[in-house]
Amino acid sequence: MRISINANRCQPSPMRKFHPYAQEAKRQGKKIYHLNIGQPDLPTPQAYYDAIRSFDAPTLEYEASPGMPKLIDAIRRYYQTLDVYLDPRDILITTGGSEALLLTLLSILDPYTEVIIPEPYYPNYTTFVNSAGGFIRALPTNPWEGYRYADRERIESLITPNTRAILITNPGNPTGVVLSQDEMRMIADIAKKHNLFLICDEVYREFCYDDKFGVPTMAKYRDIDENLVIIDSVSKRFSACGARVGCVVTRNQELQQALVKFCQSRLSVATIDQLGAAALYDVDPSFFKESKAEYKLRRDTVVSCLRQIPGVVVEEPMGAFYVMASLPVDDADKFQYWLLENFDVDGETVMFAPGAPFYETPGKGVREVRIAYVLKCEELERAIELLAEGIARYQKEVMKVGSIETK
Ligand SMILES: Cc1ncc(COP(=O)(O)O)c(C=O)c1O
Repeated sequence: MRISINANRCQPSPMRKFHPYAQEAKRQGKKIYHLNIGQPDLPTPQAYYDAIRSFDAPTLEYEASPGMPKLIDAIRRYYQTLDVYLDPRDILITTGGSEALLLTLLSILDPYTEVIIPEPYYPNYTTFVNSAGGFIRALPTNPWEGYRYADRERIESLITPNTRAILITNPGNPTGVVLSQDEMRMIADIAKKHNLFLICDEVYREFCYDDKFGVPTMAKYRDIDENLVIIDSVSKRFSACGARVGCVVTRNQELQQALVKFCQSRLSVATIDQLGAAALYDVDPSFFKESKAEYKLRRDTVVSCLRQIPGVVVEEPMGAFYVMASLPVDDADKFQYWLLENFDVDGETVMFAPGAPFYETPGKGVREVRIAYVLKCEELERAIELLAEGIARYQKEVMKVGSIETK
């Protein structure tokens, strides 16, 4: 028997591989500050719970494969508030943004075709692209340039006859980069000129900390209707990761027909989850305002604490709830194991996501980490204090140096 080439090309999630070590540290009584997973901690709106409790059909039936009409309608109304007018057939409900990505890539990639993705990127993209037999063409960026990637020449230089799509995350995970209107327009123009799909993962759309960005979406550019695929989700927007509801938004009906075949094979997204998600779209817009204000405070706290650690390179992220930082350690992966196994201050330690798996290019990101600021400000302050103490001790005990600087 043989495991498939596509499965063998996939790696375990970098966010989850430390789990057994974290469990062991907890068993020993250590408290861990989790900065490693983008799991928002703000309460999910009550409307979600009310809606699922109100479900009283005698039989729990499958929903329609493309999604529950009530939810599709709710999503259309939400997009109208962004000045985007969609037909019901432009929206396909999926099990989270994750399934939206997987089905999109299965629908547009053939073996050995390529997707251009700015790196560092959300590591599950590798699994989705590999599942479809494709390859990632990484668009390199650097911490000292704030991970910005919107450069026409750099993007166009990566396009080959095998390129099928450009995949961007806006706002970005893990970098927090938010594209300006001009940059969005320029990337849209490239996709149009070269006849490529533009997959725009906008699951963090509401989390832009400078008002000049508004609530950005590529869906406003009507001249790229055939190219554009929006990946969307209730997970981050409504602090509802466990709802497992997302969608693909595309006006390209040929692509919709391809997607729906995959949707039909998995029959439907969970009926009750869709009912709950539909109710989320009715929550008062003040919910977004309040959660954004809270995350902005957290971002400011994390960045100012990180800047006090000698040798740390960090740019202020403009969106999402992550920050990439370069640490003055030899290997962030090794450092994370050490923090769990050999370090604590008063029984407390900290977890982050090591940077290398966010890159396609070998050797990149070894000293970088992604920090998810999904804890309250006081906890974040303590977590970064632990990180600072951990770095100092690790440098002395493991690296055997006083302190080192990274570029
Ligand atoms: C950039 C990005 N896209 C998609 C997802 C998938 O989220 P979900 O499947 O919960 O919608 C995540 C989750 O962290 C993400 O960070």
